[in-house]
Amino acid sequence: MKWIITTSLGMDERLVARAKALAQSFGVVYVERGKASIKKLQNQYGHILVLYQDRIVFEQLGGKRFFFHPDTALLRIKSNHDPLLDLIGESSKTICDCTMGLASDSIVMASAGHRITAVESSRLIAFIVSQGLKHFDTGNHKVNEAMRSIEVVEMDSLSFLRQQPSQSFDILYFDPMFSEVISESQNLSGLTGLANPARLTEKILAEAKRVAREKIILKAHFRDTVFEDLGFTRLVRSNQKFHYGIKIRGR
Ligand SMILES: C[S@@+](CC[C@H](N)C(=O)[O-])C[C@H]1O[C@@H](n2cnc3c(N)ncnc32)[C@H](O)[C@@H]1O
Repeated sequence: MKWIITTSLGMDERLVARAKALAQSFGVVYVERGKASIKKLQNQYGHILVLYQDRIVFEQLGGKRFFFHPDTALLRIKSNHDPLLDLIGESSKTICDCTMGLASDSIVMASAGHRITAVESSRLIAFIVSQGLKHFDTGNHKVNEAMRSIEVVEMDSLSFLRQQPSQSFDILYFDPMFSEVISESQNLSGLTGLANPARLTEKILAEAKRVAREKIILKAHFRDTVFEDLGFTRLVRSNQKFHYGIKIRGR
């Protein structure tokens, strides 16, 4: 994928220096923004990572944009009830979110008092989301603290799990990209193209079973047979586009 880094129009020397350092660490070209529009730069260079003073936006050819936004997580935190938290239980757990994405699930779990390690294999997603988790101000001190507490690991979850001692997390959570596109899932639409599309495999599951002390939770499209294929108990949620599956240790 061809992409470059530039700054917002309202740049200063510090922002330019940050953009140049970032370009160097990613091994891509830094292009001075000048007065050029994003469209003009895209015609010349392809996808563009734009560094603003307070956020980072990946402007993809074709109009899709990827940036950190905790909106979905905030809505879920405000509601009294969350099905994922029900599956985790009340006491504080150590949880590895093996497919971080936008980190909405990680934020919800961290806000409920759980200790979260979030693993993401796409370098750009890991970078943009980890910066958001560190710096985004939701206006809610407790949620900000929860976001800052999430430890982000940029790695493939199979490699990560292989490095972990047996039974080192209470719960492992997997939410791979869906087998079918959910049109209402606008919050994840900017992610496609950047995300790792891999399915959950027997190989990852074997490592997950070794590392999970209590259980493994899987989220997938309601039509997906991955639950049955990999031996998860499917928890049907009527009229919902996705189901959860659960695998209790030793069963
Ligand atoms: C559907 S999204 C997860 C959304 C997330 N649960 C949320 O609440 O925002 C799936 C994410 O997992 C990542 N992913 C897929 N397979 C992975 C793997 N083997 N290791 C690490 N990350 C993976 C993808 O790049 C993508 O960002």
